[in-house]
Parts: sequence; structure tokens; C-alpha cells
Amino acid sequence: MKRLLLCYAAILACLLMGQNLWAMETEDCLGCHTEVDEVGESNAIDGALFSGTAHAEEGCNACHEVGEEHPDDGEEAQLVATCADCHDAITETYTASVHGENASCADCHNAHQALAPVSLSGIQMNESCQGCHGSTEVEETHARWLPQADVHIRSVPCVSCHSSSEKFVITLYVTQRQGNRAYADYELLNYDQLSQRVDGAAVTALLDVDQSGEVSLEELSEFYKDSERSGLRLWAMMTPETVDHDFKTMDNRWDCTYCHAAGPEAMQDSFVAFPAEDGSYQRLPMQKGATLDALFGTPDFYMVGSTRSKVLNIVGLLILLGGLAMPIGHGTLRFLTRKNRK
Ligand code: HEC
Ligand code: HEC
Ligand code: HEC
Ligand code: HEC
Ligand code: HEC
Ligand code: HEC
Ligand code: HEC
Repeated sequence: MKRLLLCYAAILACLLMGQNLWAMETEDCLGCHTEVDEVGESNAIDGALFSGTAHAEEGCNACHEVGEEHPDDGEEAQLVATCADCHDAITETYTASVHGENASCADCHNAHQALAPVSLSGIQMNESCQGCHGSTEVEETHARWLPQADVHIRSVPCVSCHSSSEKFVITLYVTQRQGNRAYADYELLNYDQLSQRVDGAAVTALLDVDQSGEVSLEELSEFYKDSERSGLRLWAMMTPETVDHDFKTMDNRWDCTYCHAAGPEAMQDSFVAFPAEDGSYQRLPMQKGATLDALFGTPDFYMVGSTRSKVLNIVGLLILLGGLAMPIGHGTLRFLTRKNRK
């Protein structure tokens, strides 16, 4: 028995050593492949960004096979795994969708920068659609039934309306006034700009002053007290928690009340997203209900119809219904007659 065990151990050791002799690990690959000078523009990878993704845990070798003498052997690297091998459920949904024949996974994703929706902004998510669906064109077609289509598309990324995902979160992004004019545009702050604001402290300290890991209602209102002087504001986006890959027209997203009367319950979960050094985002939870708090929450996010104050809701809905009777009537009519049109 003892001899048998020794024998196994010896075989195992041989196998391990044998591998170590030639197998290049992810760090070795990155040693060359993060250097443009070494591998050329087209073969270079953003190492910091890659390392923060789930694919880094899989390692380069999970998808690529290179020769022992790579790159000197001149042998072409082999792709040993496709997206479908590891993401079968998504691949199945996607292949059956309208887009299945029009775009491949790689049209919207870079295997070396694969991030979960929580680590991206809505703007980044929309970039993958805008390559084929031009933004001015989309705004025009949607404005036929959707009031303030531009506001909606800025705050509700395409996938919030065009995928079956039913659970949403509100994420607030820090924006900065461009220039000194009172009505100047606001733009997303990047990591460097935010770092300067907090004098090199953790970027989350901008709102999470006590560094408790959560942004409280109090911290939120402190931030807004100072916002005229600081030129900073928050911009809210409603994004799906997970992204279903059926990408289609959802009948229930015609319905304004799907979002606007969803009530506070549906939007209790909110976060503040802070840009990370590598261009992705990290999120901190916001105290429950804070975003929608009618009086002390963020003045930049007012979901008509979903605040906790009944009076404000009614006023909001009246304004909505009064001013928008036409588009709503039209939208509802189109919604009701959708079967006939098809
Ligand atoms: C000593 C530096 C070096 C290391 C280490 C290295 N590579 Fe490369 N790699 C290169 C260079 C240089 C090229 C471009 C070669 C060419 O164009 O002929 C390249 C090209 C590639 C290509 C694309 C071109 C092709 O051959 O198809 C892939 C994929 C690749 N490497 C993957 C890897 C993986 C995976 C690892 C780790 C297991 C790795 N490399 C380790 C230098 C390196
Ligand atoms: C989850 C799978 C996956 C992982 C992990 C992965 N790659 Fe890739 N890689 C791909 C795919 C897919 C392509 C595109 C190949 C094609 O179009 O033929 C690619 C392309 C490349 C290329 C060619 C240039 C380019 O960007 O198209 C290089 C070089 C490369 N990978 C190196 C690496 C290195 C080095 C690592 C580890 C740090 C790595 N890859 C990790 C899937 C992966
Ligand atoms: C070797 C297996 C493997 C391959 C091949 C692979 N992935 Fe992944 N991928 C994973 C794992 C494991 C995760 C972690 C989260 C999960 O299970 O979905 C992940 C995560 C992701 C994420 C981010 C989601 C998250 O929660 O972090 C995206 C986007 C993604 N993959 C896209 C792709 C695309 C596009 C391809 C093809 C180019 C691909 N993957 C190929 C294993 C793989
Ligand atoms: C590579 C190009 C391409 C990309 C990228 C793309 N689309 Fe499309 N999309 C198309 C084409 C082509 C059609 C028309 C298909 C048809 O009518 O047969 C379409 C149709 C649609 C439709 C109408 C489907 C229906 O129900 O009739 C919606 C909605 C849509 N796309 C949303 C999106 C969203 C959301 C994204 C980003 C996540 C996206 N598309 C990215 C090419 C693209
Ligand atoms: C508030 C929800 C909502 C948002 C946000 C939204 N859509 Fe739509 N979209 C719809 C609905 C509902 C329809 C069906 C309209 C119709 O049939 O007239 C539609 C129709 C479409 C169509 C097919 C018909 C057409 O009008 O061309 C495409 C393509 C499309 N959307 C793409 C996009 C893209 C890309 C984005 C992001 C830039 C986006 N949509 C954002 C709800 C939305
Ligand atoms: C038309 C654009 C588009 C295509 C094509 C596409 N995706 Fe995505 N995918 C997205 C967007 C947008 C997201 C949300 C942002 C993100 O995580 O990248 C996403 C998210 C994901 C996620 C994370 C899902 C989650 O909820 O955590 C995975 C995994 C993924 N995609 C894999 C794939 C695979 C595999 C394919 C090919 C079968 C594919 N995608 C094709 C646009 C696309
Ligand atoms: C998918 C969810 C969703 C749907 C569907 C939707 N909205 Fe919105 N709507 C939002 C979000 C999110 C905002 C942005 C709130 C903010 O940032 O202040 C918004 C903003 C608005 C605003 C502007 C409020 C302001 O502060 O300027 C009006 C008006 C509005 N929606 C009316 C409608 C009408 C009418 C419909 C139906 C035709 C509709 N919405 C459908 C989510 C939605």
C-alpha cells in the first residue's frame, strides 16, 4: 500500500514538473503582451483591465494554446475555447434572437475586457448598440412615442428596455460641470479627476465621507449642499441587474407605468458608482430608499410617479398626463393595436 502511494506521488510529481518545464502562465504572457513595443499594437492587452475580470481567473491558457517556443517558433497561436463553451445559456438565448445572425459575441465584447454589467456605466453598455443603431436615428424613432427620448436614453440604457431582464437598480454616477456657465453640460468624471477632488484619498471618500462602505442619506445631502460650488452632481441610470441576451422589443416597456409607477419598492436598491483606475466602475450601496427620498434625496433624479410622497406622485402624474396626453394616447393606441400591425 505504502509503495503504491509513493508510486502515485512520483507520477504526480513527474506530471507537475513536466508541466512546469514548459507551461507559460498568465503572468508570463502578460509580461510581453502588455508591451506594445514587444508585441505590436494589435497584440497588446490592457493588463490592469484584464486582471480585474473573471477571465483572468480562467487564465490565458483557458482560451489560447501557444507553442513551447512562442513567439520564436513562428507558430500561430490556437484558440482552444469559444464563448459558447463556457457561456452556454447566454449563447442559446442569443443565437435564437433577431441578432443571432447579425452580430457575433465579439462585435459587442472584448474577451480581454469582459466585465459584468455592475462594473460598467450605461454609456459603455450603449456603445455596443450604437455601432449599428445610430444614436440620432434611435432618438428620432423613439421620440415618436417616448417624451424626452434623449433624457430616457441617457438615463435608461437600451438593454433596460430591450432585454427580458425584470430587475433593475438605480446607479448614480458623479458628473462635473464643464466650464463655469450655470447651464453648462455635465460630464462623467474619470478616475484622475475624482482622485484630485479627494486629494489622493480613496475616490469613494467623495460621498462616503466616513468610509463606512455605504452612502447615507446624510452624506448624500451634504454632497448636494456643496454642489453649486463644487460643480459636481450625480446622474442616475436605471440598469438591469443582469443582461438577458434576447435583445428585442418588449411590449411592457411601452407602458410608462412599468417604470414610472413601479413604486419605491422596485427601486430601493441604489448605488453610487466610482470610476476605477482601469476604466471600470466600483459601486457602493446607498442607504435604502435614499435616492428616491423626495425631500432629501438627489434633486437630479426624480422618477415621476415613484416617489414615496403621495402628493408629489399625484402632482407628478398630473403633469405627466396633462402635458403628455397626446403621446400617451398615441402610445397606448399603438400598444393596443400592436397585434394588428404585426
Ligand atoms: C517573450 C514574449 C512573449 C510571451 C511570453 C508570450 N507572447 Fe504571445 N506573442 C508575442 C509576440 C512578439 C507576438 C507576435 C508574433 C507575431 O506576430 O508573429 C505574439 C503573438 C501572440 C498571439 C497572436 C498571434 C498569433 O500567433 O496567433 C497570441 C494569441 C499570443 N501571442 C498569446 C500568448 C499567450 C497565451 C501567451 C502565454 C501562454 C503568450 N502569448 C506569451 C510575444 C510573447
Ligand atoms: C475567455 C477567453 C480568452 C482569454 C482568457 C484570453 N483571450 Fe486572448 N483572445 C480571445 C479571443 C476570442 C480572441 C480573438 C481571436 C480571433 O479573433 O481569432 C483573442 C485574441 C488574442 C490576441 C490577438 C490580438 C487580439 O487582441 O485580437 C492576443 C495577442 C491574445 N488574445 C492574447 C491573450 C493573452 C496574453 C491572454 C492572457 C493575458 C489572453 N489572450 C486571454 C480569447 C481569450
Ligand atoms: C474558459 C471559459 C470561458 C470562455 C471561453 C469565455 N468565458 Fe466569459 N466568463 C467565464 C467565467 C467563468 C466568467 C465569470 C462569470 C460567469 O460565470 O458568467 C465569465 C465572465 C464573462 C463576462 C462578465 C460577466 C461577469 O459576471 O463577470 C463576460 C461579458 C463574458 N464572460 C463574455 C465572454 C465572451 C464574449 C467570450 C468569448 C469571446 C467568453 N466570455 C469566453 C468563462 C469563460
Ligand atoms: C452588428 C450590428 C448590430 C448591433 C451591434 C446591434 N444590433 Fe440591434 N439590430 C441589428 C439588425 C441588423 C437588426 C434588424 C434585424 C431584423 O429586423 O431582422 C436589429 C434589430 C434590433 C431591434 C428590433 C428587434 C425586433 O424586435 O424587431 C432591437 C430592439 C435592437 N436591434 C436592439 C439592439 C440593442 C439593444 C443592441 C445593443 C445591446 C443592438 N441592437 C446591437 C443589428 C445590430
Ligand atoms: C424606455 C424604453 C426604451 C429605451 C430606453 C430604448 N428603446 Fe428602443 N424601443 C422601445 C420600444 C417600446 C420600441 C417599439 C417601438 C415601435 O414599435 O414603434 C422600440 C423600438 C426599437 C427598435 C426597432 C424599431 C425602431 O424604432 O427602429 C430599435 C432598433 C431600437 N428600439 C433600438 C434601441 C436602442 C439602440 C436603444 C438605446 C440607444 C433603445 N432602443 C432605447 C423602447 C425603448
Ligand atoms: C449586441 C451586443 C451584444 C452581443 C452580440 C452579445 N452581448 Fe453580451 N452583453 C452585452 C451588453 C450590453 C452586456 C451588459 C454589459 C456587460 O456586462 O458587458 C452584456 C453582458 C454579457 C455578460 C454578463 C451578463 C450578466 O448579466 O452578468 C456575459 C457573460 C455576456 N454578455 C456574454 C455574451 C456572449 C457569450 C455572447 C455571444 C453569444 C454575447 N454576450 C453577445 C451586449 C452583447
Ligand atoms: C424603462 C423605464 C421607463 C419607461 C418605460 C418610461 N420611462 Fe420615463 N423615465 C425613466 C427614467 C429612469 C427617467 C429619468 C429620471 C431622471 O433622471 O430624473 C425618466 C424620465 C421621464 C420624464 C422626464 C422627467 C424629468 O425629470 O425631466 C418624463 C416626462 C417621462 N419619463 C415620461 C415617460 C412617459 C410618458 C413614458 C411612456 C411613454 C415613459 N416615461 C416611459 C424611466 C422610464
